[in-house]
Amino acid sequence: MYRIIFKSENKVLWILIFMILSSCMSKDKTPEKVFIKNENLDEKMYRPSLHFSPKKNWMNDPNGMFYYKDKYHLYFQHHPYSNVWGPMHWGHAISKDLISWEEQPIALFPDNLGTIFSGSAVVDHNNTSGFGTEINPPIVAIYTNHNAKEANEGSIKFQNQSIAYSLDEGQTWTKYINNPIIKNPGVRDFRDPKVIWYEKDEKWILTLAASQITQFYESKDLKEWSYLSSFGEGIGNHNGVWECPDLFELPVRGTDQTKWVHLVSINPGGPNGGSATQYFIGDFDGKKFVIDHDFETQMKNKHDFWTDFGKDNYAGVTFSNWESDKGGVLLLGWMSNWQYASKVPTNTWKSAMTLGRELELYKTKENSYRLRSILSSNLGDYESTAIEKQGELIKENITLVSKKTIDLSTAKVQIKLSGLEDTEYTFEIANSSGDKLVFGYDHKELLFFVDRNQSGKTKFSDQFSKKPSLAPRLENKRTLDIEFVLDKASIEIFFDEGKTVMTEIFFPNAPMETLNLKTSASNSIIDFFKVQELKNNK
Ligand code: FRU
Repeated sequence: MYRIIFKSENKVLWILIFMILSSCMSKDKTPEKVFIKNENLDEKMYRPSLHFSPKKNWMNDPNGMFYYKDKYHLYFQHHPYSNVWGPMHWGHAISKDLISWEEQPIALFPDNLGTIFSGSAVVDHNNTSGFGTEINPPIVAIYTNHNAKEANEGSIKFQNQSIAYSLDEGQTWTKYINNPIIKNPGVRDFRDPKVIWYEKDEKWILTLAASQITQFYESKDLKEWSYLSSFGEGIGNHNGVWECPDLFELPVRGTDQTKWVHLVSINPGGPNGGSATQYFIGDFDGKKFVIDHDFETQMKNKHDFWTDFGKDNYAGVTFSNWESDKGGVLLLGWMSNWQYASKVPTNTWKSAMTLGRELELYKTKENSYRLRSILSSNLGDYESTAIEKQGELIKENITLVSKKTIDLSTAKVQIKLSGLEDTEYTFEIANSSGDKLVFGYDHKELLFFVDRNQSGKTKFSDQFSKKPSLAPRLENKRTLDIEFVLDKASIEIFFDEGKTVMTEIFFPNAPMETLNLKTSASNSIIDFFKVQELKNNK
């Protein structure tokens, strides 16, 4: 025993000497390698100021989001002991404005039924579950128990749905003694329950993902559930597993109609590779979701119904107990992609959520329905120095933000262009290290694009910047509205007032400082331009 220990210590010593010597001799001492080891720089360069990121370690999907007593509650898939995915817990954070978050103690720990996969939470106002009282309504969380042991033993029934309740506004949770509440019927991927209150029949509806379809269940008390129907066979994109569904009713802007929207995240199969979220529009009568015939036909012709065309918005679902004045819902997604999430160059923590987005339905000229996303996180309190321009003729290369005029690393930009010509309009966000994040619009091809190939550290995964991400423009007009938010290592771009959205992360070697517009157009105009520094001192 002693000898073995001695030997292995010797080996460790030799490895250490070898590492020190080789790092001294190495010519390939790129800043990238030295940099990644420096946690403080990591924090300074990549820790977002306006987006939620966990203090430490791994995070993926947003879970159990609800709004209650002026507070937004966000739970999240969390591995508290490592910066890569592992046994899942529900982390927890609270915010008053969706921007400044306070991380809370872990909400749900793995138990003998398994680890805690994605799910939702509802405020049980009428105490239908009997877990609380009408004066102090329980918050009920509905989640998937993932039993890794059963999976390893070869069973396919290792994912089952369970519930837990909280009587202190989501702070501490008690698991229901009769869990699981929906048992696996023999489907390998059977998870991510999302529950809503269906007012018409005064009942709860649960939607979950089952392999490559979704299933609906109903309940009066959140404990006993009966199967209703399924959706998705042969409809939409099936190039990956269906995950994290959502179902909600929305008013159609400018009409007195409402329609039902069904979100389904898929991995892989996204329009630009890896993970993405598709949507379906139709009707739900309390039993069955029926997709609009017209919508289905369009879907068969081209798959372009995605909530976000960028590579980094996944598993997004909506908040319970939240509705805007216009009847919109509030969505938050995971700002990463399963293709490279565990490899991104941050050590202390992994990944952030998107900003909050309000979803709205509108009718196109062709009378079909579409979803758009409006930046809904309240940035007003964080706005600092701004620069504004109006009515400038676009020449070949325009500097919109020059060095040292504004801190571009966390900023919001609004641009309105008119007189578009059949050519490209390319925006370049750059820094002193020569990194460039490139995005824009090709009016000839009616395509939006984001190219992060030269944006800084990209080599950690060959899927990260293999090709530019593309998104079709839905209308052909000679004006264009762009709004985007930069937050150190992410960009969220809302084209055409959120009709097309692209969210992508990037890892520059120095803070971004300048913004240029390049084009061969000679008669286009910048009708409006505003850049607003955003500062979070909270
Ligand atoms: C989506 C997902 C879910 C699952 C969770 C596990 O990103 O795969 O389907 O519940 O992540 O962490």
